[in-house]
Amino acid sequence: MKINILTQFPEMFAAITSESILGRAVQNGILEIRLINIRDYSTDKHLKTDDTPFGGGAGMVMLCQPAFDALKDIYGPQGAGAKHRILYMSPRGRVLGQDLIEELAGEGEITILCGHYEGVDQRIIDAWGMEEVSIGDYVLTGGELAAMVLVDAVSRLVPGVLGSPKSLCEESIYSGLLEYPQYTKPREYEGLAVPELLFNGNHKLIHEWQWEQSLMLTKERRPDLFEKYVKGLGKLSKSEQKILDKVLKDE
Ligand code: ADE
Repeated sequence: MKINILTQFPEMFAAITSESILGRAVQNGILEIRLINIRDYSTDKHLKTDDTPFGGGAGMVMLCQPAFDALKDIYGPQGAGAKHRILYMSPRGRVLGQDLIEELAGEGEITILCGHYEGVDQRIIDAWGMEEVSIGDYVLTGGELAAMVLVDAVSRLVPGVLGSPKSLCEESIYSGLLEYPQYTKPREYEGLAVPELLFNGNHKLIHEWQWEQSLMLTKERRPDLFEKYVKGLGKLSKSEQKILDKVLKDE
């Protein structure tokens, strides 16, 4: 997958392009992250990329010129090749959820514009058919951190990026639930023991316990997700139905 990122602060993206799982995916060529410095396209003698807003007010607004020229460099002079989704990170946008992440992971290429200060000239958003995306109801100083959140969540769905593609949580019966508690060695630490059941070697029982834990956690912390999950469940086995009934009964 190819992700073009237009930003005034490309160095910030080293946090995701050179480390850990995404760093490896970039190295392996599974993920191509093209960082485009908007400032490189400024025709202003001081390489200005923003200016004060018409109508007054605080802050600075990104100029059309460097943003249009950077986009034309990707998509051609008339924007004729702009067939990919172009996202603009903004607290005004559609709130990012796993649904949008999954949609985007299915695209071969996307472009993300990061704004700063008071935002960008509206004509950039309109002329390039940008979709505004927010990562939550709070205001950051710029779109870069928001873009990194989106890129990280999208990238982990790109085939080959994660070590084990079919983790338990991606099995249909688990998706939509919060994750069950995990434990690792040692079996006992400062008097704190790992649940005995995890050592009995019966994988069916272990999976059922994990599913029950997920169900209980989700019911308690995210009743909205729990309700949606239960509504979407298909046919259950006898033992699964018994677990679900028990969780539903527990107040
Ligand atoms: N830029 C500033 N705040 C933002 C947010 N919450 N989401 C996306 N981009 C932003």
